[in-house]
Amino acid sequence: MSQPKSILVTGGCGFIGSNLAAHYLDKGYSVSVLDNFWRVGSRQNLEWLKERAEKSKGTFQFYEVDLRERSSVQNLLSQLKPEAVLHFAGQVAATVSIQDPYVDFSINAEGTFYLLDAVRESCPEALFVFASTNKVYGDLSVFGVVEEETRYTCPEHQRGFNEKTPLDFYSPYGCSKGAADQYVRDFGRIYNMHTVVLRLSTIYGGRQFATYDQGWIGWFVEQVIRQERFSISGNGKQVRDILHAHDLIALIDSLMKKATTLSGEIFNIGGGIDNSLSIRELISYLEKTLGCKADSYHIDARKGDQPFYVSNIQKAQDKLEWVPKVDKWDGVNKMIEWVNSGIK
Ligand SMILES: NC(=O)c1ccc[n+]([C@@H]2O[C@H](COP(=O)([O-])OP(=O)(O)OC[C@H]3O[C@@H](n4cnc5c(N)ncnc54)[C@H](O)[C@@H]3O)[C@@H](O)[C@H]2O)c1
Repeated sequence: MSQPKSILVTGGCGFIGSNLAAHYLDKGYSVSVLDNFWRVGSRQNLEWLKERAEKSKGTFQFYEVDLRERSSVQNLLSQLKPEAVLHFAGQVAATVSIQDPYVDFSINAEGTFYLLDAVRESCPEALFVFASTNKVYGDLSVFGVVEEETRYTCPEHQRGFNEKTPLDFYSPYGCSKGAADQYVRDFGRIYNMHTVVLRLSTIYGGRQFATYDQGWIGWFVEQVIRQERFSISGNGKQVRDILHAHDLIALIDSLMKKATTLSGEIFNIGGGIDNSLSIRELISYLEKTLGCKADSYHIDARKGDQPFYVSNIQKAQDKLEWVPKVDKWDGVNKMIEWVNSGIK
């Protein structure tokens, strides 16, 4: 099989999924999108995609399917037989998973299994990319951190954590994603499928409808712009590496080119140490850039929250010839533009 040209994007009405679908429509691909409108903003993203499809070289089909309905998923896959499945549908928030662990399990673990197994049955040659998470590494408390003025650092992992970091699923979300992550990896080994697991850190960008529960860059940008009073969990020195959606799309492009050589691969994906940021650093930047004072207060840290998580992206750089190009502050400026565009 040459580079895939017919793709199925699950969660294609979500933030990452809609950006991916638009990109491949512009490239002239046959793009199918599966979504069930679980996420706030997903209907707006579908309307945006439809408009984009009309101006693009590609073809677009939307399927309102819930991943938890196994027979619907099987029927769709046997009908479409796509050359690539970009699986970005999911329950995305650890907080929500703690409130309703079954819903989280059924979408992320069962839903991913149904999809993966349907691909095995109908189109086993397809590239299968799964959006996993850094939460599969747990709170990383075995690695000591140092509290500095604006952020935590981790002397043992100054450039971040690589794929050999021990798994330690934490929170129902960590467990459901972790289970799915291991199935996707293993179907590469056992069935020789072209599966890839991306353990994503913070991804941000346009078309993200941030909420209190998920999408922290967008959420804090929104709170400061709107001059709302808002809470910060913990002391705000927690660090993540942030990756703009444009850079994630470039990474997926690279996976598509190498599809037939990939099987059961795992990559830690984020902006890397150069694009790492604490909540405090973000808020100070926003105050300076927007010329206002943030009205924030602190609440208890979220259970299992990693004080310092940065992806070590060396493997992706070496194997996929990919490097993040959007600098963190340029990316935050773009996020300010997206929030100011008032699409919400
Ligand atoms: N954005 C990040 O920073 C980040 C970080 C780590 C992992 N991820 C993972 O990447 C994926 C995409 O994230 P996102 O930020 O675009 O999230 P998102 O919430 O914007 O998109 C997810 C989409 O999945 C759809 N969906 C949810 N349940 C479904 C179901 N049962 N059937 C069909 N569709 C369903 C939603 O309606 C939504 O459109 C998720 O799996 C998420 O866990 C994202």
